[in-house]
Amino acid sequence: MTENTQVLVLGDILHLLGDPASADTNDPTRQPSDNPAVEYVPDGALLINDGHVTSVGSAQALLASTPEPYALHDYRGQLIVPGFIDTHVHYPQCEVIASYGTQLLDWLNTYTFPAEQRFSDPIHAATIARFFLDELIRHGTTTALVFGTSDPTSVDAFFTEAQRQNLRMICGKVMMDRNAPESLCDTAESSYADSKSLIQRWHQKNRLGYAVTPRFAPTSTDRQLSLAGQLLQEHPSVHLHTHLAENTDEIAWVQSLFPDRRSYLDVYDHFGLLGSRSVFAHSIYLDDNDWRRLSDSGSAIAHCPTSNLFIGSGLFDLQAASRWRIKTGLGTDVGGGDSFSLLRTINEAYKIQQLQSHRLAPMSALYMATLGGAIALDMQRHIGNFEQGKEADFIVLNPSATPLMTLRQASCKTLEETLFMLMMLGDDRAITDTFILGESRKKRLAVAQ
Ligand code: GUN
Ligand code: ZN
Repeated sequence: MTENTQVLVLGDILHLLGDPASADTNDPTRQPSDNPAVEYVPDGALLINDGHVTSVGSAQALLASTPEPYALHDYRGQLIVPGFIDTHVHYPQCEVIASYGTQLLDWLNTYTFPAEQRFSDPIHAATIARFFLDELIRHGTTTALVFGTSDPTSVDAFFTEAQRQNLRMICGKVMMDRNAPESLCDTAESSYADSKSLIQRWHQKNRLGYAVTPRFAPTSTDRQLSLAGQLLQEHPSVHLHTHLAENTDEIAWVQSLFPDRRSYLDVYDHFGLLGSRSVFAHSIYLDDNDWRRLSDSGSAIAHCPTSNLFIGSGLFDLQAASRWRIKTGLGTDVGGGDSFSLLRTINEAYKIQQLQSHRLAPMSALYMATLGGAIALDMQRHIGNFEQGKEADFIVLNPSATPLMTLRQASCKTLEETLFMLMMLGDDRAITDTFILGESRKKRLAVAQ
């Protein structure tokens, strides 16, 4: 933290208190003040003490009532929103982002596995961990659920850097004991032992959390999945993070490897991997039994639109997820996804709904990227909005970040129009600054470069 522990930030404050879809926000002419899930304070201020939110109010009132000393950040004319939450991303895949010409299973063999083999080198792992976290900050992402590689070195490097930067991050060692290159494979027993010692070393240290991370059903034996379930039973506060029903060839492979299981999800269910701290990335091809089990077990989905388009996986049924009341966040899935930006991710999520004749309203998209993501990660007690006492991880969004955005902004008449324009045209250039526990971080990065 900075020496001055009281911080006052001026701008148009916007955050969600609940799911705005519970009230109808699909009408773009509707004012945000009509929706009880939306709190919007134009010419507002956010007051922070010791890295936590103290209050939201009008700039005039908070300037008058806040005793000095405080650090003042004047972002009038820009939006202040909670930090973005990326609910599914692979830090060891930074170097293979935007690799040409393959779909999931070929993409893994051609690009991903070779890149992941380099992470037993602690220097390489530390270099990429730092690059990755800087990239998240540059794009306004303040919390993420992150895959490491099968080598525990990769997870030690990640947590070391995340702890140094005081970030709220979740990561885990990949469990993978078959159908991958020899040098990336662990064994069921070693994956259990390594995961357990990583949990003891890092879980709930500062703002860090551990996720038991079987890569996906095809690369784990029954024994390994069973030990993953045992880890969850022995450590109920850790997360479970894996891939589910992403690609049709993958699903056929799962069927042939687990012929006794009713569905792909049923493989995970059989080994006790569903629950309120479980996050399943993609989840494109599900039937009603699967939706029901996800819903009843309180499991969450990470919707990864950029990845689903980039590696040609398919169109996620967001309407079904919402009908079944499944907690759903957004994931960039870098390097299957081709952008770190949650704004770009929302852009593609919108188009995926368009292709299914549905609308993704801007407030719902903001919800998925903030409070909805926090709920998907079961972290809403700490992050996701500006309720009093929450951790002050937030970003400054500039609706005039580019000449085109400035032109378009001139004809935006409502907050929803501005927000939608930011989501369709914005990227890292629209993130003026990223604050971690009330401390400006993106601007500092820019100076260091
Ligand atoms: N399924 C198994 N591993 C991966 C991965 O690294 N990325 C994606 N998108 N899907 C996977
Ligand atoms: Zn992934």
